Amino acid sequence: MAATESVGTEVSFVRKEDGEAAAEEQQVVNPWEVSAGKGGIDYDKLVDQFGCQRLDDALVARVARLTARPPHRFLRRGIFFAHRDLSEILDLYERGERFYLYTGRGPSSEALHLGHLIPFMFTKYLQDAFKVPLVIQLTDDEKFLWKNLTVEETKRLARENAKDIIACGFDVERTFIFSDFNYVGGAFYENMVKVARCVTYNKVVGIFGFTPEDHIGKIGFPPVQAVPSFPSSFPHLFSGNDQLRCLIPCAIDQDPYFRMTRDVAPRIGYQKPSLIESRFFPALQGENTKMSASDPNSAIYVTDSAKEIKTKVNKYAFSGGQDSIELHRKLGANLDVDVPIKYLNFFLEDDNELEHIKKEYKEGRMLTGEVKQQLVAVLSELVARHQRARAQVTEEMVDAFMAVRPLPNMFG
Ligand code: TRP
Repeated sequence: MAATESVGTEVSFVRKEDGEAAAEEQQVVNPWEVSAGKGGIDYDKLVDQFGCQRLDDALVARVARLTARPPHRFLRRGIFFAHRDLSEILDLYERGERFYLYTGRGPSSEALHLGHLIPFMFTKYLQDAFKVPLVIQLTDDEKFLWKNLTVEETKRLARENAKDIIACGFDVERTFIFSDFNYVGGAFYENMVKVARCVTYNKVVGIFGFTPEDHIGKIGFPPVQAVPSFPSSFPHLFSGNDQLRCLIPCAIDQDPYFRMTRDVAPRIGYQKPSLIESRFFPALQGENTKMSASDPNSAIYVTDSAKEIKTKVNKYAFSGGQDSIELHRKLGANLDVDVPIKYLNFFLEDDNELEHIKKEYKEGRMLTGEVKQQLVAVLSELVARHQRARAQVTEEMVDAFMAVRPLPNMFG
């Protein structure tokens, strides 16, 4: 009997409307809603609920050894903190076999914020470190189904977002970017219906929390995001290589899709994809709030100017410092709630410098204003670099990445 994952039963979906009290105490994490209970997201609880594995130091050390390079700071600092069967990918890599990477983005807005860049920065590192091919799915169809956007608008946004993704530095010789509206069909569609036949209505309701009022477009969507996990969905890349394993870097809110995918895979003769999953990037206002597209002051966008970054950080970044300088010198900062420290943890590369800042700030020798100044410098540099890279991305380059073509040296 094929092993099945825990889907739907232990992991029953909790909606907010299920009761105010429940919403207050219970965190809600699914592909469409992330809301923390009191005191921020409880990631340990999430790992247990979802049934994924913790990414421990030993595994990080193994990645470093196998790739013969220092682990990315997102690994060193536990930002990618959970996984499913990552060890199996490393085992086969160690034997000299290869795998491919799959990630994606739902093009719902023009400008990306820093949180959106995280999986792509990390995937770029994985691609360079393991020298493997990568497929990037742009789910324009998903955003048509879930947001109030026209088909034309989601297609335009997919292309615009592709430019930001390309600006992260992916190698065109190893990367295929596709939009669902353009690519779905053929072998990809055959895999979609194979998956769809294995998933009952009850099961998607259990996993995703669809209600009887939801239109059937939503209910039918999950196979679209599932099948890039299977190499046979890309005959121009992996023809004759149907058992090639897939590794998916993503934020942990995407886990439900891949729980479903892993449950179905063995039943249709395919390998289960492995996952490497990240925490969420907090809003400027703190861990308990969410970056929102409708509130530009909740996030730093890759289109922000240095001046905007400075204003947003100084004005809105939640501080764990004390109310007065005297008190701060005496008590020091509460790093657990301090947003500038959280952001530096994501983006300041130098471990020693980060530790130094944390120590000085925690013990009251450094003030919030000084930490914010450091953060503004780090973010302005990062955003300016991204803007320069994006300005270099031409329409022809987008066409090149999105062309349905073989990648002859993708494992080279
Ligand atoms: N659903 C994701 C989003 O809304 C996009 C996506 C598609 C994705 N395939 C993926 C994300 C694979 C991570 C991994 O952003």
